[in-house]
Amino acid sequence: MYSRGLFLSVLFSLAQLGWAQAPIDPALDAEIHSLAKDESALAKGEAVYAAMCFACHGKGLEGLAGPSLKDGAWVHGGTPSQIFHTLTKGVADKGMMSYEYIYDEATRKALVAFMLSRQEGLRDLQYRLVEVPEKTADPEGVDLETFSLDGLPVIKEGAFENGLIDPAVAETDTFAMSVTGNLHIGIAGKYDYRFTMITDAVAVWIDGKRNALTLDEKRRKVVLKPTELSAGVHAFRMDFVKRKNRPEISLTFYGPKNLTQGAMTVDGHKKLFDSFTFPVETTARAQVRRTRLPGLPGGTVAVGLPEGVNFAVQPRGGAILAIWTGNFLDIGPNIDGRGREPSKFLANPWMIGEPGIQLQIDGEPVPLRLVEYRYEAEQLIFEFAHSGDARVVLRGHVSDGKLHMDYQLKGFDDLAEKHVSLLAPIGTTLEGEAGQFTDQRYTVSSKHASSFSVAIFQAR
Ligand code: HEC
Repeated sequence: MYSRGLFLSVLFSLAQLGWAQAPIDPALDAEIHSLAKDESALAKGEAVYAAMCFACHGKGLEGLAGPSLKDGAWVHGGTPSQIFHTLTKGVADKGMMSYEYIYDEATRKALVAFMLSRQEGLRDLQYRLVEVPEKTADPEGVDLETFSLDGLPVIKEGAFENGLIDPAVAETDTFAMSVTGNLHIGIAGKYDYRFTMITDAVAVWIDGKRNALTLDEKRRKVVLKPTELSAGVHAFRMDFVKRKNRPEISLTFYGPKNLTQGAMTVDGHKKLFDSFTFPVETTARAQVRRTRLPGLPGGTVAVGLPEGVNFAVQPRGGAILAIWTGNFLDIGPNIDGRGREPSKFLANPWMIGEPGIQLQIDGEPVPLRLVEYRYEAEQLIFEFAHSGDARVVLRGHVSDGKLHMDYQLKGFDDLAEKHVSLLAPIGTTLEGEAGQFTDQRYTVSSKHASSFSVAIFQAR
């Protein structure tokens, strides 16, 4: 799940954000919409874009110094006339110049038409909340080949903005929602899209056709079959039931390899949170966020335990790279899809940086790759793959106010003849019954080599 690009969740309510937006002009909207079907206008727009705009907005409109121009989130309004207005007037204080006297009106319209033709992801979303169907109470009882929310009494309906499916509208932890809208595909190709951490009851239709779903064996992750999609606009519908014990929903689209960044996402919290804070609260169970963290390599996974002890794990190698006690993370600065800003630790880490607490065999770091994380009995478990079938399973938990890490090494050859150890940075003490801690190295006795637990705390 982590190996390719983005993992984002749908959690936010946007209605109250209130950006300064340009006025909407319906006649101009209609005119530019029809231009977006005119090949010569598109070619003209594309040529100007490639000459003038790519440096700030990216070759594929994915955003660089300027925001993405192909997602559903628009700071200054996303209708064609609003985009035209932004382009005409510029955004002086943010470094986007006015193009009013550089390009004539026809050229500016062609530019907007070109941007429209390259939109990606969901737009124009309508939702209906319906009564939760009885039989989804038993996940095993849901037949994904026939599941739908048709015919159930409607509780509430409305529209979403910016291509964002916002579960907050349900105002409950368990709900059944049907969403319809348009799926924009910028570049034709095979699209792979999946839900993570969601309920087992989900169905997706594209252009009216039900997509075949597969579930991973633990029925936690629904994978939709990779689908060949032509460029343009497709009708989208998704019915799903969210249950209380599934804290997050994310729907992620992965585009063809030739797309810049290799991925697009329709969950839309991109770029709306420039100046916002969004503290992630750790409540009854561990929270996980894969987000940029200050001073740590990209891809590091942050975990907040309910006891107020937090740590960060490196997906390659499985090292513990940071530990902090107190509140977890403010991901607000980084929700922004243009994301240069890392998230903020809400308390100062007392241990941070590479190589961190590192698992070693015979004095060498163990090559590992994060395969997945999952909850088992409300506990968060990380599973890493080594070569062949060998796996390392890692579980962090708190007892006596201290962070404990449980390591399980499965399928390693001749482990009893090898030296398993954990290297820890200065300032950190490791303690446990399975080994000895000297010179910042916790050496595991051979008897415990395949399964041991250490307490990690700040050296006095
Ligand atoms: C020097 C860098 C730069 C160049 C060149 C540039 N832009 Fe921008 N553009 C920006 C920045 C920065 C913003 C963000 C303004 C903000 O956040 O309010 C922006 C915003 C926009 C927006 C509004 C996006 C929104 O979310 O509402 C549009 C549309 C846009 N640019 C189109 C273009 C086009 C088309 C061109 C080429 C003709 C272009 N830009 C060239 C930097 C640039």
